[in-house]
Amino acid sequence: MLVVDMKKIVKRYSSKLALDLVDLEIAEGEILGLLGPNGAGKTTLIHTLAGLIGIDSGDITVFGMEQQKNIMAIKRQIGLVTQEITIYPDLTAQENLEFFGGVYGLKGQTLKERVAATLAFVGLSEQAKNYPYTFSGGMQRRLNIACALVHRPKFLIMDEPTVGIDPQSRNHILETIRKLNEQGTTILYTTHYMEEVQAIASRVVIMDQGQIIAQGTMEELVKRIQHEEKIKVEVAEPSEELLERLRKLDGVKHVIQKGKEIQIISQAGSGNLDRILSVAKDFGGIHSIHAEKPTLEDVFLTLTGRKLRDGGAENVDIQV
Ligand SMILES: Nc1ncnc2c1ncn2[C@@H]1O[C@H](COP(=O)(O)OP(=O)(O)O)[C@@H](O)[C@H]1O
Ligand SMILES: [Mg+2]
Repeated sequence: MLVVDMKKIVKRYSSKLALDLVDLEIAEGEILGLLGPNGAGKTTLIHTLAGLIGIDSGDITVFGMEQQKNIMAIKRQIGLVTQEITIYPDLTAQENLEFFGGVYGLKGQTLKERVAATLAFVGLSEQAKNYPYTFSGGMQRRLNIACALVHRPKFLIMDEPTVGIDPQSRNHILETIRKLNEQGTTILYTTHYMEEVQAIASRVVIMDQGQIIAQGTMEELVKRIQHEEKIKVEVAEPSEELLERLRKLDGVKHVIQKGKEIQIISQAGSGNLDRILSVAKDFGGIHSIHAEKPTLEDVFLTLTGRKLRDGGAENVDIQV
């Protein structure tokens, strides 16, 4: 069964084309990772799907129901974790959940039990009576997620739920998503961290500039670029001249510098290792060199010629 079936979605913000004929299908039971750089249109896509904003053209079906005619029935079965934290600072953790549960029509003993179970699920039972302003960023994020879970949605949409949090909370959240999925919840997980998608998603959709540019399982996506190899060299002095020399080698597609490290992506079997070594030697010697398997980041780079994240210095530590 398809939980989501979006066809030819177009969304404009005045002159800005934010969604450019997007087709998106999500099957029951999957964790779909929606990956794309900032500004790709991820939030816009999610908001049109959840019925928060209208579209200019296209068709949206959720749980087999035409969206516009069944918006209330659909919303009751969706949980939306927004990119901005939307908890109430002057309500305790428990009161926040009671509020959101109430919005979904829960009351009395059922509400009480659900609130307690949801707090336990996100690891905040001991904080039930505390106010969010006393929480770390990661705890606030977890409470934000709990608010979207208290009515037990069949389909959970998460919009970059781990931005700016510590690794421990990140791992906790990813673990929570896995558990929910094992219990039968379908999940749409949006992020610009490819490491997260690699860790939890059963299928990946890559977005850029309002369009879906690739989709498939990790394996399928990486296969698309198996004709490429990635070599990382650390040199004493990564000068612009060295980068230029490397770019001019036969079969080299991309050369990227990250501090003292240079990443070279070239055609597989181009025999570039030797040539790279000899060029780099002319520039003050090589500290280290290694070849790597391609990642989603490389898939993105190959498809767009750009990096997923600007700067690239952000390290994401995932241990789930
Ligand atoms: N309310 C808005 N008005 C005008 N432009 C917007 C609005 N919201 C988003 N955009 C633009 O639409 C594009 C997609 O934004 P968004 O969906 O937030 O991307 P993402 O979530 O992938 O970072 C961006 O260029 C953004 O600047
Ligand atoms: Mg966004």
